[in-house]
Amino acid sequence: MALTADDKKQVKNIWSHIAPNAETWGSEALDRMFKSELQTTTYFSKYDLHTGSPHLKSHGKKVMDALTEAVNHLDNIPGALSKLSDLHAYELRVDPGNFPLLAHCILVVLAIHLPKKLDVCTHQALDKFLAAVACALTSKYR
Ligand code: HEM
Repeated sequence: MALTADDKKQVKNIWSHIAPNAETWGSEALDRMFKSELQTTTYFSKYDLHTGSPHLKSHGKKVMDALTEAVNHLDNIPGALSKLSDLHAYELRVDPGNFPLLAHCILVVLAIHLPKKLDVCTHQALDKFLAAVACALTSKYR
């Protein structure tokens, strides 16, 4: 479902509180995904996946920074994430079913840190945003 003008406003508003915490919250979301969806660890065999490890922190920051880039280009998310889309589809070959799992974990982590700001409307807008990102990142699979 496409993001409405109001959804975009909600996402931009809440993202100003999220971007400064990219490393910590990104690493928490990954940690949660790796623990709750064990199969996702198989893509990261070279990483130290212990809670708070430097690998988790640096990768968590990369993922959240990519989301910030998408937030800065809400009218053209596929264009903003085109290179990442190539990477995930052609090189990494991440099963598309994993994207909603990470999206869910990101949403849970945001709800933990921003309980008051994550009202129903913002929750819905973020859900749509993360689905649009997943759609962009899996658009090149054949
Ligand atoms: C790499 C973003 C979902 C597996 C990356 C990178 C970014 C990124 C920014 C680093 C690219 C670079 O260094 O040039 C995202 C975003 C996602 C997402 C925004 C969805 C919200 C996933 C999922 C998986 C995955 C669901 C698998 C469960 C990987 C792997 C790498 C990677 C294996 C390479 C790591 C390495 O070699 O260090 N991703 N990703 N990604 N991603 Fe994703």
